[in-house]
Amino acid sequence: MPLAKLAFPDASKAAPPHDHGAMAMGEMEMDAAMIGSDVVAPSRSQELAALLYPPKPRPHKPGRIREYGVAAVDRQIEVAKGVFYSAWTYNGTVPGPVIRATEGDRLRVAFANGGSHPHTIHFHGIHPENMDGVFEIVEPGGTFTYEFEALPYGMHLYHCHSTPLKKHIAKGLYGAFIVDPPKPRPPAQELVMVLNGFDTDGDGENNFYGVNGPAFYYAKHPIRVRRSQTVRIYLANLTEFDPINSFHLHGNFFRYYPTGTGDQFEYTDTVMLCQGQRGIIEIDFAHTGRFMFHAHQSEFTELGWMGFFEVVD
Ligand code: CU
Ligand code: CU
Repeated sequence: MPLAKLAFPDASKAAPPHDHGAMAMGEMEMDAAMIGSDVVAPSRSQELAALLYPPKPRPHKPGRIREYGVAAVDRQIEVAKGVFYSAWTYNGTVPGPVIRATEGDRLRVAFANGGSHPHTIHFHGIHPENMDGVFEIVEPGGTFTYEFEALPYGMHLYHCHSTPLKKHIAKGLYGAFIVDPPKPRPPAQELVMVLNGFDTDGDGENNFYGVNGPAFYYAKHPIRVRRSQTVRIYLANLTEFDPINSFHLHGNFFRYYPTGTGDQFEYTDTVMLCQGQRGIIEIDFAHTGRFMFHAHQSEFTELGWMGFFEVVD
């Protein structure tokens, strides 16, 4: 990382419309290691939006079939400006698509392995042994349909369970799996954040970190939310190699529901997650303006895992 000090490039354009005295970013000297001078191409924005904004929840209707198609595909993805990673993906993105169902739905996921290695999909949640994505390895060119009742409600995840497991996860085969409760959660501005990292030089340590992929993306493209409605984040940690990751929010506190399976919450501004750990965050922003979110591990922050909310009225 260059140590040169850079001014934040788009400060004037990106300033929030109702700036209640927050310091303008353009007046600040930022370290290049803290704020990436550039992020991956705007052509990725639609892809990233599909990972950030989940499909809408559906009302409880036990037995309804929810179908998804997931294909494993080898693909070069840009994980930081000009840095490409030979990923193994579900449907071409890392993380893979957000899979969402309501408790009691029959989830049917048609999996096709278009990659060059044997893969599976292992879902967290409750399901029979033969739907666990551990014993039925799908060879390249092969297919398998996972079908089971979606439960329990909460925030879950899925990932490949072929061996070596570490490699199949590090390469990018994982995603968010949301199961909605029978009694719907109150309306909110919903987001999905999958915490991940990329070992671009193959030394068994991550070189970049991010939320839903690219380093620094949401630092350059703040996530715009309204102050009037709760922001709900479905959060999961799929970072390989590092034992923990974390989420920290500036200027606000939030309710954190571990695994999203109950009503008990912690009122905090920082949560820590091991790999596979996940939960639901609900934020009622107190003020408009720009609020940073990032890993509360400085190293991860400086290697890309940070961003901003732009809170507007
Ligand atoms: Cu795999
Ligand atoms: Cu797992």
